[in-house]
Amino acid sequence: MAVRIEPSILSADFTAIAADVARIPSADLVHVDVMDNHFVPNLTFGLPMVERLLQVTDLPLDVHLMIDDPDRWAPGFAEAGAAVVTFHAEAAKDAVATARAIRSAGAKAGVALKPGTPAGPWLDRLDEFDQVLVMTVEPGFGGQAFQPEMLDKIRQVRGTIGDRDVWLQVDGGIGPATIARTREAGADTFVAGSSVFGDADPDAAVRRLRELATA
Ligand code: DX5
Ligand code: ZN
Repeated sequence: MAVRIEPSILSADFTAIAADVARIPSADLVHVDVMDNHFVPNLTFGLPMVERLLQVTDLPLDVHLMIDDPDRWAPGFAEAGAAVVTFHAEAAKDAVATARAIRSAGAKAGVALKPGTPAGPWLDRLDEFDQVLVMTVEPGFGGQAFQPEMLDKIRQVRGTIGDRDVWLQVDGGIGPATIARTREAGADTFVAGSSVFGDADPDAAVRRLRELATA
C-alpha cells in the first residue's frame, strides 16, 4: 500500500507560503485548508490562493474544504487544477453529485468525516469517491491533540475499502508519536501541519514521518 505524506500549509508562514512549500520537496501532495468561518469557526483563504499556489509549485494540491455549500464551490477548485478536492459530508446537500462534478472537472473527489460523523452510510457509496478523510480532531485549527477513539473508524473504513484504489486520509494531530498507529489501523494518506512546519527542517520531518509510516 502506498504511503502519502501531505504537509498542511495551515501551519506555514502565511506571509511566505510559497517559500515554505519550497521547503518540503519530499512531500507527495500539499494539503490546503480552506475555511469559511461558517462551517468551522476559523477563516483562511479561498480559490485565489489555490490558483496562485498552483503557479508556484509542481507538487499536487489536495484542497480540504471546510466550508458551507461545497456543492456550489467544490467543482471550481477542481477546474482550477487541484489534484484532489475533499469536502465535508456534513455540509453537502448532494455529496454524490458534488463528487461527480469534481471528477468531471478532472480531480479526485474526497469526502471528509468529522469525529462525530459515522462512516457507515458512506461506505455503501465508496465507488463515488477517491478519498475518505477521517478527521482525527475537530476541524478548524492546527495543533490539536490526536483523538485515539478515531482508530476504530479508520479500521472500519479500511475494512470496506480493502485494496480498492480509494485513499484513506487522516488529518489532525498526526506526528511522530501518532502516525504509526493510524497506519496500522489502515490509513495511507497522512496530513501533518504543526509537526512538519513546526520543525526546524520541515523536509526532514516529512521524511521521518514517511519512515515511521512504512516501518
Ligand atoms: C484542521 C486542518 C488540518 C490542520 C492539521 O482542521 O484540517 O489540516 O492543518 O494540523 P495539525 O497537523 O497541526 O493537527
Ligand atoms: Zn485539513
